[in-house]
Amino acid sequence: MKIKVKSLEETKKLACAFASLISKKGMFITLTGDIGAGKTQFIRYILEYLNVKDKVTSPSFVILNEYKSDLCPIYHFDLYRLEEKGLKSIISELREYSKEGYLTFIEWAEFAHDEIPKNAFKINVCYDDNDVDIRLFEFIEDENNKEFIENLSKKVTK
Ligand SMILES: Nc1ncnc2c1ncn2[C@@H]1O[C@H](COP(=O)(O)OP(=O)(O)O)[C@@H](O)[C@H]1O
Ligand SMILES: [Mg+2]
Repeated sequence: MKIKVKSLEETKKLACAFASLISKKGMFITLTGDIGAGKTQFIRYILEYLNVKDKVTSPSFVILNEYKSDLCPIYHFDLYRLEEKGLKSIISELREYSKEGYLTFIEWAEFAHDEIPKNAFKINVCYDDNDVDIRLFEFIEDENNKEFIENLSKKVTK
Protein backbone atom coordinates (compact mmCIF):
# COMPACT_ATOMS: atom_id res chain seq x y z
CA MET A 1 0.00 0.00 0.00
CA LYS A 2 1.34 3.44 -0.93
CA ILE A 3 0.31 6.61 0.87
CA LYS A 4 1.13 10.09 -0.39
CA VAL A 5 2.03 12.60 2.28
CA LYS A 6 2.07 16.32 1.52
CA SER A 7 2.98 17.88 4.88
CA LEU A 8 4.29 17.19 8.35
CA GLU A 9 0.68 17.25 9.52
CA GLU A 10 -0.16 14.40 7.14
CA THR A 11 2.91 12.44 8.26
CA LYS A 12 1.65 12.85 11.82
CA LYS A 13 -1.83 11.57 10.93
CA LEU A 14 -0.36 8.55 9.20
CA ALA A 15 1.99 7.86 12.11
CA CYS A 16 -0.84 8.15 14.65
CA ALA A 17 -3.02 5.77 12.64
CA PHE A 18 -0.11 3.34 12.45
CA ALA A 19 0.68 3.68 16.17
CA SER A 20 -2.94 3.10 17.19
CA LEU A 21 -2.74 -0.38 15.62
CA ILE A 22 0.38 -1.50 17.52
CA SER A 23 -0.35 -3.93 20.35
CA LYS A 24 1.67 -4.97 23.40
CA LYS A 25 3.10 -7.76 21.27
CA GLY A 26 5.17 -5.06 19.58
CA MET A 27 6.47 -5.03 16.02
CA PHE A 28 9.76 -5.16 14.18
CA ILE A 29 9.78 -2.44 11.53
CA THR A 30 12.41 -1.63 8.92
CA LEU A 31 12.53 1.75 7.19
CA THR A 32 14.43 2.20 3.94
CA GLY A 33 14.45 4.92 1.31
CA ASP A 34 15.68 8.41 0.47
CA ILE A 35 17.76 10.43 2.92
CA GLY A 36 15.64 13.19 4.45
CA ALA A 37 12.37 11.66 3.25
CA GLY A 38 10.96 11.51 6.78
CA LYS A 39 11.79 8.17 8.37
CA THR A 40 12.91 9.59 11.71
CA GLN A 41 10.00 12.02 11.72
CA PHE A 42 7.52 9.18 11.21
CA ILE A 43 9.06 7.26 14.13
CA ARG A 44 9.06 10.42 16.27
CA TYR A 45 5.30 10.85 15.77
CA ILE A 46 4.64 7.19 16.56
CA LEU A 47 6.57 7.53 19.83
CA GLU A 48 4.75 10.76 20.64
CA TYR A 49 1.44 8.94 20.17
CA LEU A 50 2.71 6.19 22.50
CA ASN A 51 3.50 8.82 25.13
CA VAL A 52 7.25 8.40 25.07
CA LYS A 53 8.61 11.37 26.94
CA ASP A 54 12.27 11.07 25.96
CA LYS A 55 13.50 13.27 23.14
CA VAL A 56 13.60 11.26 19.92
CA THR A 57 16.76 11.99 17.99
CA SER A 58 18.20 10.19 15.07
CA PRO A 59 20.50 7.62 16.65
CA SER A 60 22.98 7.92 13.78
CA PHE A 61 25.95 8.44 16.07
CA VAL A 62 25.04 5.82 18.61
CA ILE A 63 23.38 3.25 16.30
CA LEU A 64 20.78 2.37 18.94
CA ASN A 65 18.39 4.30 21.17
CA GLU A 66 16.10 2.81 23.78
CA TYR A 67 12.80 4.27 24.97
CA LYS A 68 10.30 3.27 27.58
CA SER A 69 6.57 3.24 27.00
CA ASP A 70 3.51 1.74 28.71
CA LEU A 71 3.07 -0.54 25.71
CA CYS A 72 6.46 -2.30 25.62
CA PRO A 73 10.18 -1.51 25.42
CA ILE A 74 11.07 0.41 22.26
CA TYR A 75 14.34 0.24 20.31
CA HIS A 76 15.40 2.52 17.47
CA PHE A 77 18.37 1.54 15.33
CA ASP A 78 19.95 3.77 12.70
CA LEU A 79 22.43 1.73 10.69
CA TYR A 80 23.67 4.59 8.49
CA ARG A 81 27.11 4.68 10.05
CA LEU A 82 27.42 1.00 10.61
CA GLU A 83 30.46 -0.57 9.07
CA GLU A 84 30.85 -4.18 8.02
CA LYS A 85 32.40 -5.28 11.29
CA GLY A 86 29.82 -3.21 13.16
CA LEU A 87 27.02 -5.32 11.74
CA LYS A 88 28.36 -8.39 13.55
CA SER A 89 28.30 -6.51 16.81
CA ILE A 90 24.57 -5.77 16.62
CA ILE A 91 23.25 -9.06 15.16
CA SER A 92 22.36 -10.45 18.58
CA GLU A 93 20.40 -7.26 19.42
CA LEU A 94 18.59 -7.38 16.07
CA ARG A 95 17.51 -10.96 16.80
CA GLU A 96 16.58 -10.31 20.41
CA TYR A 97 14.49 -7.21 19.66
CA SER A 98 12.64 -8.90 16.81
CA LYS A 99 10.97 -11.16 19.37
CA GLU A 100 7.44 -10.61 20.62
CA GLY A 101 7.15 -7.91 23.25
CA TYR A 102 9.43 -5.32 21.66
CA LEU A 103 8.66 -2.43 19.35
CA THR A 104 11.73 -1.99 17.17
CA PHE A 105 12.50 0.42 14.34
CA ILE A 106 15.46 -0.01 11.99
CA GLU A 107 16.42 3.00 9.87
CA TRP A 108 18.81 2.31 6.99
CA ALA A 109 17.95 -1.37 7.14
CA GLU A 110 19.70 -1.57 3.73
CA PHE A 111 22.96 -1.79 5.67
CA ALA A 112 21.97 -4.90 7.56
CA HIS A 113 21.94 -6.96 4.36
CA ASP A 114 20.60 -10.46 5.11
CA GLU A 115 20.54 -10.04 8.87
CA ILE A 116 17.07 -8.52 9.03
CA PRO A 117 14.72 -10.96 10.76
CA LYS A 118 12.13 -12.56 8.50
CA ASN A 119 9.16 -11.15 10.41
CA ALA A 120 10.13 -7.54 9.64
CA PHE A 121 7.38 -5.17 8.59
CA LYS A 122 8.92 -3.20 5.73
CA ILE A 123 8.29 0.48 5.08
CA ASN A 124 9.94 2.41 2.26
CA VAL A 125 9.86 6.22 2.33
CA CYS A 126 10.87 8.24 -0.72
CA TYR A 127 10.26 11.51 -2.54
CA ASP A 128 7.76 11.63 -5.37
CA ASP A 129 9.62 11.81 -8.69
CA ASN A 130 7.41 14.63 -9.92
CA ASP A 131 6.97 16.74 -6.79
CA VAL A 132 9.58 17.22 -4.05
CA ASP A 133 6.90 18.32 -1.58
CA ILE A 134 5.30 14.90 -1.76
CA ARG A 135 6.69 11.95 0.16
CA LEU A 136 5.55 8.42 -0.50
CA PHE A 137 5.19 5.89 2.29
CA GLU A 138 5.05 2.36 0.96
CA PHE A 139 3.92 -0.33 3.41
CA ILE A 140 5.10 -3.58 1.89
CA GLU A 141 2.53 -6.31 2.22
CA ASP A 142 3.42 -9.87 3.18
CA GLU A 143 1.58 -12.86 4.62
CA ASN A 144 2.03 -11.62 8.21
CA ASN A 145 0.85 -8.04 7.90
CA LYS A 146 -2.16 -8.13 5.54
CA GLU A 147 -4.67 -7.43 8.29
CA PHE A 148 -2.59 -4.62 9.79
CA ILE A 149 -2.28 -2.92 6.40
CA GLU A 150 -6.01 -3.33 5.72
CA ASN A 151 -6.78 -1.68 9.05
CA LEU A 152 -4.26 1.08 8.41
CA SER A 153 -5.79 1.67 5.00
CA LYS A 154 -9.26 2.00 6.57
CA LYS A 155 -7.97 4.50 9.10
CA VAL A 156 -6.10 6.73 6.67
CA THR A 157 -8.59 6.75 3.84
CA LYS A 158 -11.70 7.55 5.85
N1 LIG B 1 5.96 15.23 5.40
C1 LIG B 1 6.90 16.17 5.62
N2 LIG B 1 6.73 17.43 5.20
C2 LIG B 1 7.66 18.36 5.40
N3 LIG B 1 8.84 18.14 6.04
C3 LIG B 1 9.08 16.92 6.50
C4 LIG B 1 8.14 15.85 6.32
N4 LIG B 1 8.65 14.73 6.87
C5 LIG B 1 9.86 15.08 7.37
N5 LIG B 1 10.13 16.38 7.16
C6 LIG B 1 11.35 17.09 7.55
O1 LIG B 1 12.42 16.66 6.73
C7 LIG B 1 13.62 16.59 7.49
C8 LIG B 1 14.26 15.22 7.38
O2 LIG B 1 13.37 14.27 7.97
P1 LIG B 1 13.92 12.95 8.67
O3 LIG B 1 12.75 12.29 9.28
O4 LIG B 1 15.07 13.26 9.54
O5 LIG B 1 14.42 12.12 7.38
P2 LIG B 1 15.12 10.68 7.30
O6 LIG B 1 15.12 10.09 8.67
O7 LIG B 1 14.28 9.91 6.33
O8 LIG B 1 16.50 10.91 6.76
C9 LIG B 1 13.26 16.96 8.93
O9 LIG B 1 13.58 18.31 9.15
C10 LIG B 1 11.76 16.74 8.97
O10 LIG B 1 11.12 17.57 9.93
MG1 LIG C 1 16.68 9.41 9.86
